[in-house]
Amino acid sequence: MFLGIDIGTGGTRAVLIDRSGTVVASHSSEHAPIHSEQIGWAEQNPEDWWRAAKVAISGVLVESGLAGSEIEAVGLTGQMHGCVMLGSDGEVLRPALIWCDQRTQPQCDWLTEKVGFERLIELTCNPALPNFTLTKLLWVREHQPETFARIAHVLCPKDYVRYRLTGELAMDMQEASGTLLLDVANRRWSEELAGICDIPMSWLPRLFEGPEICARISDIGAGATGLAAGTPVAAGAGDQGAGAVGMGILKPGSVSATIGTSGVIFASTAKPTMDRLGRMHTFCHAAPGLWHVMGVTNGAGLSFRYFRDTFAPSESYDTLSTEAAAIPPGSDGLFWTPYLFGERTPHLDAKARAAFVGITASTTRAHFVRAVLEGVAFSLQDTFTLFAELGIPVTNIRLGGGGARGPLWRQIQADVYGHPVDLLEAEEGGAFGAALLAGTGIGAWPSVEAACEATVRVAQTIQPKAANLMQAAYAEYQKIYPALRFIGNH
Ligand code: XUL
Repeated sequence: MFLGIDIGTGGTRAVLIDRSGTVVASHSSEHAPIHSEQIGWAEQNPEDWWRAAKVAISGVLVESGLAGSEIEAVGLTGQMHGCVMLGSDGEVLRPALIWCDQRTQPQCDWLTEKVGFERLIELTCNPALPNFTLTKLLWVREHQPETFARIAHVLCPKDYVRYRLTGELAMDMQEASGTLLLDVANRRWSEELAGICDIPMSWLPRLFEGPEICARISDIGAGATGLAAGTPVAAGAGDQGAGAVGMGILKPGSVSATIGTSGVIFASTAKPTMDRLGRMHTFCHAAPGLWHVMGVTNGAGLSFRYFRDTFAPSESYDTLSTEAAAIPPGSDGLFWTPYLFGERTPHLDAKARAAFVGITASTTRAHFVRAVLEGVAFSLQDTFTLFAELGIPVTNIRLGGGGARGPLWRQIQADVYGHPVDLLEAEEGGAFGAALLAGTGIGAWPSVEAACEATVRVAQTIQPKAANLMQAAYAEYQKIYPALRFIGNH
């Protein structure tokens, strides 16, 4: 029995699976809301992740009726890029700046200027984006030097939970790729970039491949969770890497479209494949010897949540989706650009703003909802457009996250991508993949590929129905960002 733990943005989820990939039990605990002192800032308290992890782990044990000693291995995953700063005694020095925090554009500009855009891509395969961990460290150096001076260790969110569970400081290659401090092509820290930025190498944890066992549950970790001391813990991966493993996205051509808070189109590649303009991310895969590319929409599931919370707080997502299903594809010319937290792919514009465009006196709430769902899919289609430009093959698309759950959003995605989309039997996201990495780590399967073959099954394929119409609508959508680019930008 393998345990996967996903330290997400909204909450932490623990999932127990057996060797056939059957989910035996799962348990979640919500996090405190994101703290946002200023527009574009986003912080969370690492202690809250640890609290939620304890609840989720002990909850899943109770639910399954299993003893801690029956868990053979643990795998971790979570929201990527967050910057957890620890002092020399392992104490948290300040709340973590998390992945969607957009305050570090000035630090990105400084870094790009200092290193050079092209050289940065040579060193790390990626450009400087406010999402990435290094830029958050540079912000703290500039604005909170007294905190910066006390830093002894830097971790990402799930790695902090690992630290509490095991006492070990460790990070996997896929997660490390999102710090902007990894030499992604060579799977090692970039001493050159760390040197340029005066970041001591001693702050960076040891690196491991996703399935490698890098730590064991400590006595303290066991006491806090009910797991057995000594249980092996695999390195795991960031949520996108582990999610891709959980969806069997390993062979080149195999692609996933996952809508969580953010939305990601993820493709596996046999070699590091870069965009000269840095419009998508090029990271190490959670499976050894593979890389991946991904395009990210910052405000995907967030768009729907934002709309509901702001305009229809008493309605469920299902009710709103059912209403929206009665509106024709294309939402009668209403469009939504989902740039609630700026945008990554393809615009790389932290200041981009969201917009509804095309409202008439006949526009109903249902139109707005449909337009939101379509706008998120259009934004993800921008990544497929980029893949086509870069010659990255797409042979099958598997849906994950909230966008795979309701019939309307699934159909919208098939129509907008103009491609059949597969739904999987167990769509448990990153936690499932983290559990597969853990099982692989202790030899339950000979490789990550074998783990996926044994456990990941397609349940249903959805064919596009309105692809031509949505292709025409996408062409209209593409005109909106350039037209609105300067609005609200200053
Ligand atoms: C990936 C990314 C998000 C976060 C939060 O680059 O920023 O997927 O990991 O889910």
